[in-house]
Amino acid sequence: MASLIVGGGESLRGSLWIQGSKNAALPMIAAAVLNRGITKIYHCPAISDVDNMLEIMKSLGCCIERTGEYVLIDSSQMDVRDISPEYAASMRSSVFLMGALLGRFGEVSLPYPGGCVIGKRPIDMHLAAFERMNIRVQVTGDRIFCSTDHMAGSGHRLRYPSVGATENIILASVLAPGQTVIKNAAKEPEVIELCLLLNKMGADIHGMGTGNITIYGVSTLHDAVFSLVSDRIVAATYLAAAAATAGDVEVRGVWAHDLKTVLQVLAEMGCGIIVRNKRVRVIGPYMLSCVDSIYTHPFPGFPTDMQSQIMACLSRARGISRLTETVFEDRFKTAGELKKMGADILIENHTAVIRGVECLKGTCVKAWDLRGTAALVIAGLMAEGDTVISDSIYIRRGYEDICADLKKLGARIEERKTG
Ligand code: UD1
Repeated sequence: MASLIVGGGESLRGSLWIQGSKNAALPMIAAAVLNRGITKIYHCPAISDVDNMLEIMKSLGCCIERTGEYVLIDSSQMDVRDISPEYAASMRSSVFLMGALLGRFGEVSLPYPGGCVIGKRPIDMHLAAFERMNIRVQVTGDRIFCSTDHMAGSGHRLRYPSVGATENIILASVLAPGQTVIKNAAKEPEVIELCLLLNKMGADIHGMGTGNITIYGVSTLHDAVFSLVSDRIVAATYLAAAAATAGDVEVRGVWAHDLKTVLQVLAEMGCGIIVRNKRVRVIGPYMLSCVDSIYTHPFPGFPTDMQSQIMACLSRARGISRLTETVFEDRFKTAGELKKMGADILIENHTAVIRGVECLKGTCVKAWDLRGTAALVIAGLMAEGDTVISDSIYIRRGYEDICADLKKLGARIEERKTG
């Protein structure tokens, strides 16, 4: 068990390099299955989601070498196509391995992934797309079996631009004969990164970053070396913390373009924003202003992964803000914890109505998920006194060392291990 103890009242100031992107790293690790050789990824974040994904890769027969600089995956000897329940339960992203294992062996078996704290998270679009690629999908009990003798490129129109479904179709189709077209594909920067890595391996993918992606199947892939983009959500979290504490923080290694909607919201809240090459600086005002309405949407819309952190900021903004979650049905658990600190938040269906209060009070709160934990850290930085966040282990899933990063910026924050 771990807790975070956050001292309130300090303005964050300084400059930070941002770690590699979690959501780009996870499907890329799965992609390493496809080249029957070596994939070397630089700037891979040292987070527990990556640790778990690499453990799954080992269980499938891959050799892994990890240094402070890179992760090297050798998939030449791998021969296992079954993902065991213990791994699938700890790691939703094992879903990406479906497409990759199908591409390599024409076969995969894994436990049906359950929902999680932010929603039901079905995978019907992934499975329907596989069926269109001449893959048999059988669900027996709580396991899924997919197999094919002859994978075929095909056309797909997603009813929603799902990141995971887009990535799984790409992974399954790079080695499939013929042409695969994905319409209404996800445009997230992490999808682009996955395609760039696959193209470096010799794949033939076009249109990534747009709603229409075309994949021309190739017969083999080769070794590749890739350097990961920085994590836009980690960067945005630290910029939100600067905004919340009337601070002045610069994040380095990120494109402002990838943060556009978050920066627009921070500007509406009264922040000064300075962009220079791959550096973004946010200067928080003495008092934040409310924002009439924010809707989470797929990229380039406002990211659902920043919803909780911005809610924490708005809990002390002047006026009433409305924050509507349209991506995941159950992502407001952290609101209840913010209320324990004195925030005035009313959840009406999928909208949080946030009436800014003069001060938050440090108290004991509980973490429910990764981004919610980051939001409670921000609230703790704004609060009077100390905030103790229990079950804070979630933060390790996506932030390499949030305590070290925030301490560099002048925060008082410690992790305490218990039990
Ligand atoms: C990815 C990100 C996650 C981010 C999310 C949305 C990774 C590892 N995770 O998750 O951090 O919050 O994108 O930007 O990259 N859906 C269906 N059926 C499907 C697939 C999805 O109904 O077959 C629904 C989901 O329940 C959800 C919505 O579509 O309501 C978006 O999900 P999706 O884009 O697939 O998110 P993930 O890929 O799981």
